[in-house]
Amino acid sequence: MPLPKAELHLHIEGTLEPELAFALAARNGVELPYADTDALREAYRFSDLQSFLNLYYGLMAVLRTERDFEDLANAYLARAAAQGVRHAEIFFDPQAHIARGVALGTVVEGLWAALGSSEENHGVSTRLIMCFLRDESADSARETLEAARPYLDRITGVGLDSAEVGHPPVKFREVYEAAAALGLRRVAHAGEEGPPQYITDSLDLLGVERIDHGLRCMEDPELVARLVRERVPLTLCPLSNVRLRAVDTLADHPLPAMLDAGLLCTVNSDDPAYFGGYVDDNFTAVRSALGLDEQRLRELARNSFLAAFLADDEERRAR
Ligand code: HPA
Ligand code: ZN
Repeated sequence: MPLPKAELHLHIEGTLEPELAFALAARNGVELPYADTDALREAYRFSDLQSFLNLYYGLMAVLRTERDFEDLANAYLARAAAQGVRHAEIFFDPQAHIARGVALGTVVEGLWAALGSSEENHGVSTRLIMCFLRDESADSARETLEAARPYLDRITGVGLDSAEVGHPPVKFREVYEAAAALGLRRVAHAGEEGPPQYITDSLDLLGVERIDHGLRCMEDPELVARLVRERVPLTLCPLSNVRLRAVDTLADHPLPAMLDAGLLCTVNSDDPAYFGGYVDDNFTAVRSALGLDEQRLRELARNSFLAAFLADDEERRAR
């Protein structure tokens, strides 16, 4: 039995398996530039974050209707439940859909059709986190937050993702202030490819409560000490780090050193359809490649509930 756990770093668009991509393409009359699912999987040879993002945004063309988003989310929730996930905080990328002519309402209502009944259907409680694309303008992020106002009862927080380097947190200071004023929780990707300073600035300028990835904090001992002192959770994604070459091999992953340093680490899947595994596959992979013992794995699972945006009673119920 997989350990009960929460998944806190999961892009719903990154759960689009090749088989579902082809099924949705057929349903919507969208032509994909791949002969079949094998040819598509063959294209998953990423050299860095940008080469992954190019494919990830391209494949979104098959997501058009509420039902598509509902099917996508249900497929993820079923797989997650089978991997021990009891609670999932799910990212989505509204700007990537709006830019293709898919309305924000279509995305949110479609996802909600699955998320709203996920406890009954899958035994997984959920939260939705809306991410701003950091390689788009601050104005575009502000417009997206404005467009999300009718759906704020369904959105728990905001995040920041996409191409990191060259798009520092400061660019999004005002929109994060506006999000906080609306009562939204705040997280941000930082220190995946970007420097440790982006982690510091995400804390100080954006007021985030968790750092997504945060791998490169290990280059700055003072930052590590601060993250430990302030109990800032990091949502690590080991298989993603290997596939996007943030680390050379899984055996080189700093997770054991990060745990030894006292960091509040969690293990997550990021974009599981693309990176070779869902969350328990990540747990299994780090266990064998990094020699983590049972106690360490339990610590990671416990951390995932501590770091979640769950009310206390829900947290107890999930465990
Ligand atoms: N990093 C940045 N942006 C993303 C990622 C990621 O790992 N996955 C989907 N968008
Ligand atoms: Zn991510």
